[in-house]
Amino acid sequence: MRRGNALTKLSTALAILLTLAASNGLAADVTIGRATEQNSLDPQFSDLGNDAATAENMFDSLIEFDSKLRLHPNLAVSWKLLDPLTWEISLRPGVTFTDGTPFTGADVAFSLNRARNIPNSPGPLASFVRTIRSGNSRFDRFTAGQADALTALEKTGLELFRGKGHCVTCHVGPNFTDEQFHNTGVAWSDHDLTDKGREHGAFKTPTLRELPLTAPYMHDGSIATLEDVVEYYSEGIRRNPYLDREIRPRHFTAEEKRALLAFLLSLSGEISY
Ligand code: HEC
Repeated sequence: MRRGNALTKLSTALAILLTLAASNGLAADVTIGRATEQNSLDPQFSDLGNDAATAENMFDSLIEFDSKLRLHPNLAVSWKLLDPLTWEISLRPGVTFTDGTPFTGADVAFSLNRARNIPNSPGPLASFVRTIRSGNSRFDRFTAGQADALTALEKTGLELFRGKGHCVTCHVGPNFTDEQFHNTGVAWSDHDLTDKGREHGAFKTPTLRELPLTAPYMHDGSIATLEDVVEYYSEGIRRNPYLDREIRPRHFTAEEKRALLAFLLSLSGEISY
């Protein structure tokens, strides 16, 4: 551990008093003065600024960032992307825990697995380590060639999604997102932006898979149901100076709204974590 280095960083922001009382050779008291309350000493429970700063004194990372966000080896000496879903990471040999137990790949796997399941964690960590895959929806089976996987109503919905609705200009690809940011008018109210998002009220196009599990909708959860989302795209668009060119009220008929909704629901399938 590079305790000295971590402390140098910390001491610029916080007043720190360290008392290292080596009572039994392993245990030591550490007293740290802080600007705000500590949420938790569990670095996987909370990864927020202050908690992370304390954790730096006790835990080490595989790879480190420097002040310019360049990566440096730490507990990992090298890392290589084998395919889009697999990293090969080599650990520094000879590293041990404070009680002398060797640090191994199994410990890394344990840590990553643990991080995804910390109950009530307020930190943003879990969303980075959790992988959720959705697949084998009826829509997937339809595109794989099974013509009867979608009902007639859902097929009409698909046509509207591609055609009249212009939905595919943004909700494209296997995950129904172009990974881009757009102003859809959601953040516009009373002649002003309620949230500027990325810029000018633009938010990232979300996936449309597993929608029944992700209510309420939009970045601010301001639309409670999928029926209301379809209604929004039909009549509710809030015009504003930054509105995306592809967003305008599409004036769907009642039947078209039912079809679009049915199509959106056909994007749910099996989820694996
Ligand atoms: C110009 C790009 C664009 C077009 C065209 C577009 N969307 Fe979206 N869609 C977005 C963005 C961006 C959001 C997120 C907005 C936010 O968070 O405020 C969104 C959100 C949604 C959501 C909510 C998802 C969630 O989990 O919150 C649904 C459902 C949806 N769109 C369906 C559609 C349908 C149906 C159409 C066609 C009628 C359509 N979209 C057309 C960009 C677009």
